[in-house]
Amino acid sequence: MAAPRSCALCRYWGRCWSPTPRCCTVPGLRFSWRENPLGVRFMSQEQRTKETHFGFETVSEEEKGGKVYQVFESVAKKYDVMNDMMSLGIHRIWKDLLLWKMHPFPGTQLLDVAGGTGIAWVLGDAEELPFDDDKFDIYTIAFGIRNVTHIDQALQEAYRVLKPGGRFLCLEFSRVNNPLISRLYDLYSFQVIPVLGEVIAGDWKSYQYLVESIRQFPPQEEFKEIIEDAGFQKVTYESLTSGIVAIHSGFKL
Ligand SMILES: C[S@@+](CC[C@H](N)C(=O)[O-])C[C@H]1O[C@@H](n2cnc3c(N)ncnc32)[C@H](O)[C@@H]1O
Repeated sequence: MAAPRSCALCRYWGRCWSPTPRCCTVPGLRFSWRENPLGVRFMSQEQRTKETHFGFETVSEEEKGGKVYQVFESVAKKYDVMNDMMSLGIHRIWKDLLLWKMHPFPGTQLLDVAGGTGIAWVLGDAEELPFDDDKFDIYTIAFGIRNVTHIDQALQEAYRVLKPGGRFLCLEFSRVNNPLISRLYDLYSFQVIPVLGEVIAGDWKSYQYLVESIRQFPPQEEFKEIIEDAGFQKVTYESLTSGIVAIHSGFKL
């Protein structure tokens, strides 16, 4: 059986920050992932035979979504504790900074893609969002875009669903800019993180994928250009913790 193309969770906060869980799945999309070997988006034969990376492995584009899906199915239960262990809690500061940059106010229409869990959530694919054009004031994606098969397509979707004047914000692993820290970070990533994954979550492979996928993701300047290619303007970024992560920002003007 063909694997599901990709796993996605989109979290949509409406007018308030109510913690009340209001689940809203899109049955068609869920059905497509589980049952439809072509996935949600029907791709041309030519696209389906292209290759891409899954960590350091080369896979067909068609396979990648399913492999990413398996990773997050596998890590979901221990996801938060692993994040705390691997980053010594620093991921919470990075996320607070993202929120601080976002600076939402009452009535702001926010879309958080690849949320993992959320308040009111919708199952969908970042590459084909189940929302109308020009709908949101802010689009955020934290540690999600690295996993999508076609980053350019996900960015175009972000652009499409944002209102004119809307803001795109992305928190993602990036490139360490200090050679000494970079060597230590590599050592930690490749020698310690998969071991932690095995000990805490019983899952070496998913955490091996995590560190490899980080290395495959474009560095700050390159990602900035990719965001600009999707049509965003005034694109800037801020590197945090010596570039271990970066927050990219752009506007639909
Ligand atoms: C590393 S988690 C990030 C979760 C959360 N945003 C955070 O910062 O902790 C990546 C999430 O992206 C989702 N994801 C993977 N591929 C996706 C896609 N094509 N579209 C939307 N979400 C996707 C996964 O299911 C997972 O929930």
